[in-house]
Amino acid sequence: MSVLVEKRGAVGWIVFNQPEKKNAINDAMWRAIPAAMAEFDRDAEVRCIAFRGAGSEAFAAGADISEFENVRSDRGAVAEYDDLLDRVLHSIQDSLKPSLAMIHGYCLGGGVEIALACDLRYCGQSAQFGIPAAKLGLGYNIEGHKRLLETVGHARAREIMFLGRRYDAGEALAMSLVHRVLPDAELERYVDGVIETLCKNAPLAIANSKTILEQYVKSAGAPDTARMRAAIERCAKSADYIEGRRAFMEKRKPRFTGK
Ligand code: COA
Repeated sequence: MSVLVEKRGAVGWIVFNQPEKKNAINDAMWRAIPAAMAEFDRDAEVRCIAFRGAGSEAFAAGADISEFENVRSDRGAVAEYDDLLDRVLHSIQDSLKPSLAMIHGYCLGGGVEIALACDLRYCGQSAQFGIPAAKLGLGYNIEGHKRLLETVGHARAREIMFLGRRYDAGEALAMSLVHRVLPDAELERYVDGVIETLCKNAPLAIANSKTILEQYVKSAGAPDTARMRAAIERCAKSADYIEGRRAFMEKRKPRFTGK
């Protein structure tokens, strides 16, 4: 299987595993992601979801170009492919559990799409980023532009898309494409720490923030205030909110259950 799906403790890992092609994402790999996300969403033990590429040469060097002739050629096929991509990326973005991308090496095209659908992005210093659609003559999809725009802003989104060039980790940090750059050898340890925090923090409070933030970046329509209020109320009534207050007063670490 070219996507490895593995639960390790409270973390659901999704690993792109096609190292001979720099972890390029083929059709079967794209299709495996919504199922993996649904499994992790259902599993109450899973508190966060993490993406990475197998090995340290690449997160993912984009979609598998060798398949474009078949799955991404005429108009109908392109639309079908973009629908699949929307399903994949929304399965990540719409999850109420926090997600992150741990990026070693190349993160190109579809790799950037996955990373931008995640909540958090951390990379090693030798990581390289780019969306080479203009070099391939590819009409990049609608929501991919939207996520890029929201993350890096108009000016940078235009340069990234028009030039199709690659950016190093420092440049990616400067344009907020990643949250932090670590020395390559320290990336995994740092991400483990982030994951530990995500897993220990109150799940409903994180889900509340995800719900509200997603309402402001959704593709169409006004923010659903009732839905946002309901998420806040769920937190207000939760056992975790009681636990959080008590733990603070008792000067101990809280134990959150997501209830
Ligand atoms: N789709 C299919 N195959 C890919 C691929 C992709 N996106 N990215 C890399 N590969 C394959 C290469 O064709 C090569 O296959 P081969 O061994 O059969 O020749 C193999 O992976 C190794 O890549 P190679 O190009 O030899 O490695 P490199 O270190 O010189 O360069 C990259 C690495 C990632 C810079 C280069 O492979 C590349 O530009 N890939 C395409 C990236 C891209 O345009 N992605 C966007 C797609 S939307």
